[in-house]
Amino acid sequence: MKTSEMSWLNEAFKGEVPNGFQGKVGWQSPSNIALVKYWGKRGKQLPQNPSISFTLSECRSETIVHYEKADNFGFQFFFEGKENPAFGAKIEKFLNENLAYFPFLNQLHLKVESRNTFPHSSGIASSASSMSAFVMCLMEIESLLVGPSAGSGNLNLCKASYFSRLASGSAARSVYPKMALWGATEAYEGSSDEYAVSLENDLHPVFKTFRDSILIVCGETKSVSSRAGHALMEGNPYAPARYAQANENIINLLTALKSGDLDTFINITESEALQLHALMMCSNPSYILMKPNTLRIIDEVRRFRNETHTPLCFTLDAGPNVHLLYPESEAEKVERFIKDALSTYCVDNQWIADHVGDGSKKLM
Ligand code: PMV
Repeated sequence: MKTSEMSWLNEAFKGEVPNGFQGKVGWQSPSNIALVKYWGKRGKQLPQNPSISFTLSECRSETIVHYEKADNFGFQFFFEGKENPAFGAKIEKFLNENLAYFPFLNQLHLKVESRNTFPHSSGIASSASSMSAFVMCLMEIESLLVGPSAGSGNLNLCKASYFSRLASGSAARSVYPKMALWGATEAYEGSSDEYAVSLENDLHPVFKTFRDSILIVCGETKSVSSRAGHALMEGNPYAPARYAQANENIINLLTALKSGDLDTFINITESEALQLHALMMCSNPSYILMKPNTLRIIDEVRRFRNETHTPLCFTLDAGPNVHLLYPESEAEKVERFIKDALSTYCVDNQWIADHVGDGSKKLM
């Protein structure tokens, strides 16, 4: 789809919001974990290279938006029951920058209530889940204005992905079930820098029920935000080689995902995780987000794989926590390994058992 074909961009409800228009909508949306990483952006939240992720299930945001006709746009944001102006400001900034797509907001007051199912102290970024959940709510409000048949939960996921991307890059991938690809690649027809597409129909069954056990190595806020990290790619001397390699990894990973080739999957996934952190280490200024226990876990995982031939691998987000990825059929063995050998490296022995999930879902 070319930008000119994204007809839904020009289909915003521009009419008069009816008197008495009020109510609430609710959506939940999961976090996602990238295998091929998005690291470096250009223009208006466009990726420097395509990325692929698993959609998670247990780590998600649940958002309710109360709406009411008003004389002008009003907005309040509550996080886990308390007003949270800092996070609210991020959503408001996104809305103000994109008001042309949501002109009806000029006639509405919104009160947003959001919560995450994962603990605050886990260090898991919530912008992908929370921004995509909010965008789904916004789109449902619009669909209620457009007509009574809409608002049934069948929202246009491509449009949702586009707006989620504008709110927070990787959020573009969270709306789809199983796995998503964000970024244009010749290896996948219909792929785009503007929004993510679903890979659900191009997956070997083994990947549709994959597990992700998230080992919480450190729950503190990161010393360098993802935003700053993306920006530092601009002066990074390795950036061109990185983008070329990411493109190649996308091609090979897409093939492996289709055929169920776990060796290639493991090889690319671990290399991508280490490359992401290597890029941070050779940024200027350089920085390190891994902790000693991150490396201890990586070491143990590789030893366990060599000794037991279990198809278990790790990936990392922009932080010290380790995501362990493995087929559902290996769950018992891997969970025993986590409890016996790895949880000791986690804050309060804390880890989260997650798995591939179904994307955004309507709450009410
Ligand atoms: O969506 P952002 O701006 O938080 O960036 C996400 C970057 C990584 O999580 C490190 C990689 C990715 O593709 O999700």
